[in-house]
Amino acid sequence: MKTLLATEKPFAKAAVEGIRKIFEEAGVEVALLEKYSSAGELLAAVADADALIVRSDKVTKEVVEAAKNLKVVVRAGAGYDNLDLAACTAKNIVAMNTPGQNSNAVAELALGMMIFMARNAFAAGTGSELKGKKAGIHAYGNVGRLVAKLAQGFGMEVYAFDPFVSRESMEKDGVKATATVEELYSACHYVSLHIPATEQTKKSIGYSLLSRMPKGGCLVNTARKEVIHEEELAKALEERPDLKYITDIAADTQAALSAKFGARVFATPKKMGAETAEANINAGLAAANQIVSFFKTGDRRFQVNLKK
Ligand code: 3PG
Repeated sequence: MKTLLATEKPFAKAAVEGIRKIFEEAGVEVALLEKYSSAGELLAAVADADALIVRSDKVTKEVVEAAKNLKVVVRAGAGYDNLDLAACTAKNIVAMNTPGQNSNAVAELALGMMIFMARNAFAAGTGSELKGKKAGIHAYGNVGRLVAKLAQGFGMEVYAFDPFVSRESMEKDGVKATATVEELYSACHYVSLHIPATEQTKKSIGYSLLSRMPKGGCLVNTARKEVIHEEELAKALEERPDLKYITDIAADTQAALSAKFGARVFATPKKMGAETAEANINAGLAAANQIVSFFKTGDRRFQVNLKK
């Protein structure tokens, strides 16, 4: 039995050591492919793997077809838009994620991003405080809930919109549920995005939502670049010199946005939401344990494709 750990963006050393230990104890061989620069390297490395662990690495149809022995792939993280689920399903490969394991790291970054923008990207001059401002959580899942809690700690008034989460469970957390997504953007100075990238959500955040934000509004994106309608974002920023955008996943048009809007737009150089030793250890070890228990007992608890 062999697992390939393929991470273009490598896990912290302690996470890799922990993953190795779990597989060693279970009698599973581990191969490591880190910082690779071409899809060809992944295609070659996956050829004899029974299991695969990835981060945002793209598991395309080509990868699935090259992986002749593959039975299970685990995305060590939350969003699995990088996995071709149909290709996995067609080959009876179980695809899983590790929900919640890296959420705290992402949530802390979202708050850090709010402070960074409130303090003029750490340039000299008068900024503003988060206290007393309204924070909008767009999708109240594992990360959204933690952002809400942290924002409350900063004295922010927290709102959330999520059609899949009950008003009662938000209210229990002291969060005001909005009935519509428009209401969320109309109310909140900071909107933090936590929606996945799906056919329904791609390009769904655009002019009509952004132009509703209160004066000084700031959109914080630690989710996915695909959910932003970039042309409409530019239009909103152009019309409203007070609006700001900060993202952990650079836009396709990032260079143009930065050139045009300067410090009102900021992108981290490389996606870093889940880049903490803690998150790497949590997600990496969870992925390894899920694979071991899948092989031992057929456990499919975190499966995101096929029927359970
Ligand atoms: C996730 O979906 O878990 C996050 O976006 C983290 O992605 P990463 O593992 O590529 O850092």
